[in-house]
Amino acid sequence: DDVSSLPSRPPVVTIMGHVDHGKTTLLDWLRKSSVAAQEHGGITQHIGAFVVKMSTGRQITFLDTPGHAAFLSMRQRGANVTDIVVLVVAADDSVMPQTIEALKHATSAKVPIIVAINKIDKEDARVDQVKADLARHGVEIEDYGGDVQVVCVSGKTGQGMADLEENIVTLSEILDFRAEPDGMAEGWVLESSVKQNGKAATVLVKRGTLRPGDVIVAGKTWARIRVLRNEAGKELAEAPPGSPVEILGWRELPDAGQRVLQAPDEGRAKTAVEYRMEMAEREESSAQLA
Ligand code: GTP
Ligand code: NA
Ligand code: MG
Repeated sequence: DDVSSLPSRPPVVTIMGHVDHGKTTLLDWLRKSSVAAQEHGGITQHIGAFVVKMSTGRQITFLDTPGHAAFLSMRQRGANVTDIVVLVVAADDSVMPQTIEALKHATSAKVPIIVAINKIDKEDARVDQVKADLARHGVEIEDYGGDVQVVCVSGKTGQGMADLEENIVTLSEILDFRAEPDGMAEGWVLESSVKQNGKAATVLVKRGTLRPGDVIVAGKTWARIRVLRNEAGKELAEAPPGSPVEILGWRELPDAGQRVLQAPDEGRAKTAVEYRMEMAEREESSAQLA
């Protein structure tokens, strides 16, 4: 296929790093709101997913991930659905266990990294030490002759944030992400929960376009899309490739991490789900026999 003839899509940029190194704060700066202050105990409990319109007018989809040790699978998922990883390292704390883990995820998923050394406003910031530690962990940063960009920032004062934004936009333009907007849609479940108005799942659309009324299958459940919403709760007429959307209309709640595939109609969706359940049962009984 000639990918270059397809329309552009927003790149999916995941913010990763050790707990409390400032991931949500940097994202807040980029979307000019203040989620970090509102979060319960200041810990990101879920994958926040939203589209930011950069000052260039370009749209970028950002995924926030929790640094807390208990959320390994969410970070794995984040690395897998992403095009670019922004690795946040606090200048006063340097490389820590979740920094190394994020690096492993990004490397194994072959995702390019931009390093943001954060908290450079702090008195005990040690930027050179962080760079040396990153190099020691195999990150080929530009200061040491490699091609991984390093940007020094403060999510508190905003210092360096324009540079970070520019680096993200430039890398996105070089990598030139495109996707097929027509045909059967495909995506991934980022998170799911039961809300006041029903079973809701945040889905990142990878190809195709989802619209209310469409039928989709995820694992052993399916939905006829009742409502599509963005992260601000605004109802959408469609969700093109690269967009994260909350979807209502599920029979059962799908699990996070599951692949989403559009089905032509409810009958086909039900058949697909029944088939998957039957296969799972068979696997279970053969496991019991073994
Ligand atoms: P988790 O989601 O819990 O992993 O944390 P996080 O990486 O999202 O960090 P968060 O944005 O919640 O910031 C953690 C703490 O560091 C908060 O108290 C922030 O106010 C503070 N912080 C973030 N960025 C900076 C910075 O550039 N300078 C200073 N001084 N403090 C910062
Ligand atoms: Na935090
Ligand atoms: Mg956070």
